[in-house]
Amino acid sequence: MMKKSIIDALNEQVQKEGYSSNLYLAMASWAETKGYDGITQWLYAQADEEKMHMLKIIGFVNERGGKAIIPAFEQPPAEWKSIREMFDQVLEHEQYVTESIHSIIPIIEKGKDYAALNWIQWFVDEQMEEESSVQAIIDKLNLMGDKNIYMFDRDIMAMRAEGSEEA
Ligand code: FEO
Repeated sequence: MMKKSIIDALNEQVQKEGYSSNLYLAMASWAETKGYDGITQWLYAQADEEKMHMLKIIGFVNERGGKAIIPAFEQPPAEWKSIREMFDQVLEHEQYVTESIHSIIPIIEKGKDYAALNWIQWFVDEQMEEESSVQAIIDKLNLMGDKNIYMFDRDIMAMRAEGSEEA
């Protein structure tokens, strides 16, 4: 049975991953109304990944004798000024999630739960990949400039495929 401090920390992370999924859904919906088909697909796929992260934590907590709690989620924003502003927010959000994952590690170490310590390493690696794939998108946006946003929209899913092959 996992220690309560670890269960509580993981339940907080359930909330953050679920919010991430909703945030990317909100961004996808906004991008879809603007006609950016590639960016929309990228964001829907990202929202699915975040849901998978949430389910992974729920499954682990329940398997280890805890009880995962499904929380209420704060409503995400609905409007962004530009694609660039939106991706800056994606990166900022991923950095926040990375910090959150890192903050759970000392709690697990304190509880001497080596199975949980091993398990959470997957999230450490995943966050590193997520941050670097969003950074690559921002670099490309910088290179292409606002005038080429439709070309960027056409190419973004290929960047995702390249990224997931590395994963
Ligand atoms: Fe599950 Fe992208 O944080």
